[in-house]
Amino acid sequence: MSNHKLQAASLGEIRVENVTKSYGAGPFAKTVVKDCSFTIERNKLTVMIGPSGCGKSTLIRLLAGFEKPTSGTITIDGKPITGPGKDRLVVFQESALFPWMTTYENIMYGPRARGEDTPESRKQAEFLLEKVGLKAFRKKYPPQLSGGMQRRAELARAMINNPDVMILDEPFRGLDAMSKELMWEYYAGLFEESHRTNFFVTTDIDEAIFLADRLIVMTNTPTRVRATIEVDIPRPRRLAKTFDNDHANQVKMQALSLLHEEAMKSFSGGSRAAADFVEAYSKRGSDDANAGKPPSP
Ligand SMILES: Nc1ncnc2c1ncn2[C@@H]1O[C@H](COP(=O)(O)OP(=O)(O)OP(=O)(O)O)[C@@H](O)[C@H]1O
Ligand SMILES: [Mg+2]
Repeated sequence: MSNHKLQAASLGEIRVENVTKSYGAGPFAKTVVKDCSFTIERNKLTVMIGPSGCGKSTLIRLLAGFEKPTSGTITIDGKPITGPGKDRLVVFQESALFPWMTTYENIMYGPRARGEDTPESRKQAEFLLEKVGLKAFRKKYPPQLSGGMQRRAELARAMINNPDVMILDEPFRGLDAMSKELMWEYYAGLFEESHRTNFFVTTDIDEAIFLADRLIVMTNTPTRVRATIEVDIPRPRRLAKTFDNDHANQVKMQALSLLHEEAMKSFSGGSRAAADFVEAYSKRGSDDANAGKPPSP
């Protein structure tokens, strides 16, 4: 561990190009990701939002290198991803803290696994304990921590490995609303200090907009990119002011209407009548917008 700060190198651009992922074969084959392309830009916080079950975690397993695409390519800084690597670190939805280790031991897990329990890495662990506000809880075991504290310990445990890219799969799912909002501010603050490349997956629209520099909206399964939206809200992001912003509300309405269309498609199962309904729904917004206006000449 070289330095006790959150500064990250300018690394970790991931390109996903025409990726398809199918499971099974023959008549039982199921395509979960289809012809999907997007870029996770360096030093930005890219958030992916999509309907539940669309294939987001499947994409994360591909980015992590736990699975291989059926076709298409994924590269990091131009090099193909062929398996798990130190350059990428995944934080999963379920707490992956070891219940038999203290907070400190959990944070030191990565360096120790590499045989690097050095004064340097110990100092970095202390620095991170302080950063995530768990100094007083260093000797506690995960069951003695609140849900939010566990998520913060997990962020520290990931960050000590100093990956080029942090990949997070719905890390705050299951937290109560207040802890979740506090975690948004907290996590946004960590990002704003380091500007490390981050990829964050969620199904929560407010979480997505609060955090994102870029928002990637996914289609239903088999999933691909429906739209990419730049989220131009000033940083540091604060709960009290981030949503007090026309741009934030516009982005929210735009993303919600795309997600609604995708949800309706899955609901309809592709039948013609339902497809007509979806089309009618998507037109409704513009008709409403024109309601009450004089007819154009
Ligand atoms: N190994 C597998 N074999 C067969 N089907 C799979 C496999 N892994 C995932 N799937 C299917 O792929 C689809 C997408 O699953 P995935 O977990 O990627 O969705 P998700 O977008 O992460 O959902 P959620 O928001 O609920 O976490 C699901 O229908 C799932 O059943
Ligand atoms: Mg998932």
